[in-house]
Amino acid sequence: MKLLVTGGAGFIGSCFVRTALTEGWAKRVVNFDKLTYAGNLENVAPVAEHPGYRFIQADICDAEAVEKALREEVPDAIVHFAAESHVDRSIHSPAPVIQTNFNGTFTLLEAARRLKIARFVHVSTDEVYGSIEPPHDADESYPLRASSPYSASKAGSDLLALSYYTTYKVSVSVTRASNNYGPYQFPEKLIPLMISNALEDKPLPVYGDGQQVRDWLFVEDHCQAIKAVLEKGRAGEVYNVGGNCSLPNLEVVERILKATGKPASLIQQVTDRPGHDRRYALTNAKLTAETGWAPQVDFTHGLQATVDWYTWNKAWVERIKSGEYLRFYELNYSHRVG
Ligand code: NAD
Ligand code: DAU
Repeated sequence: MKLLVTGGAGFIGSCFVRTALTEGWAKRVVNFDKLTYAGNLENVAPVAEHPGYRFIQADICDAEAVEKALREEVPDAIVHFAAESHVDRSIHSPAPVIQTNFNGTFTLLEAARRLKIARFVHVSTDEVYGSIEPPHDADESYPLRASSPYSASKAGSDLLALSYYTTYKVSVSVTRASNNYGPYQFPEKLIPLMISNALEDKPLPVYGDGQQVRDWLFVEDHCQAIKAVLEKGRAGEVYNVGGNCSLPNLEVVERILKATGKPASLIQQVTDRPGHDRRYALTNAKLTAETGWAPQVDFTHGLQATVDWYTWNKAWVERIKSGEYLRFYELNYSHRVG
């Protein structure tokens, strides 16, 4: 199989690229990535010399660059990860989020339609459902009630992607995953931020009362789910991808403190995120029934593997922190990170 993967230098996309090439089920993987602050070629270094790997630095909003790549490579499928993925950034600065997540997806869909690409997997998020009232776990028919510019941009791009199946019969499937964690995640997201702050004895900024619930999915499980949808998913369908592990944020932070051997006194309650969704929880029943996929990594093992990775890869974190990441935090969150 020949794949064009967008956002393959980011956290999840790079895991997918590494997995596809090292497991050998993709013969060729073209990584199409703009390299924003979140894109890092170090994340794909393990496969950089693989004969089937090619990197193209370009923007998914650039129709000419997209078309050129597709004409040159003629992939069997596009797997679309590229996005502005951080909710807090989308609140401070929505414009690039709408541009990449909505207009960029439109550019890719148009190219896929015109060049008759056989398969398109649009990687989306459980955030499109907004806060999910207990005791329900959302299935794919749960109403879309996006709360942030990020989640609204993803909900819009989901609908656009599905319309390309309904109208033009582009073979699109949409995946909606819960919160991913694991190695190579940019340390602006909860788990890697808390681990790297704990390792440096810095305060751990918990938003509001810390009782917001997120469902945690190990990144490698997510990538196997995307492979399953790519190979066995039906066109025009949405598939939830959850980790079966809903936990309050404060409990996650306490587990990180335990795993790093640091004191609870590092926890610092800070101002809540505006429009903060209270609870995410998904059912995977449809994906499991249609493809056999189920998450394999339980949270205790996945979290320990993640803590170990960040402990052994402090230099990776330092390099990232010395760049745009730090400037963003200095501008917006210095009062929170102490
Ligand atoms: P990330 O922020 O780590 O990586 C995003 C990648 O996209 C980066 O390599 C970046 O350079 C690239 N990119 C951004 N704008 C681009 C553009 N205009 N053109 C080309 N490349 C561009 O993101 P992630 O956490 O790996 O998320 C990947 C996808 O998965 C996103 O679509 C996100 O919405 C979705 N998702 C993420 C999670 C999560 O917990 N992280 C959960 C569910 C779904
Ligand atoms: O649910 C899937 C989504 O998960 C993805 O679509 C997004 O791309 C991804 O960024 C993630 O969004 P969240 O907003 O849930 O992730 P984040 O790691 O930013 O925050 C997780 C929870 O932790 C959330 O309730 C906010 C809280 N939080 C986060 C940070 C960064 C804190 O309490 N303190 C923090 O410093």
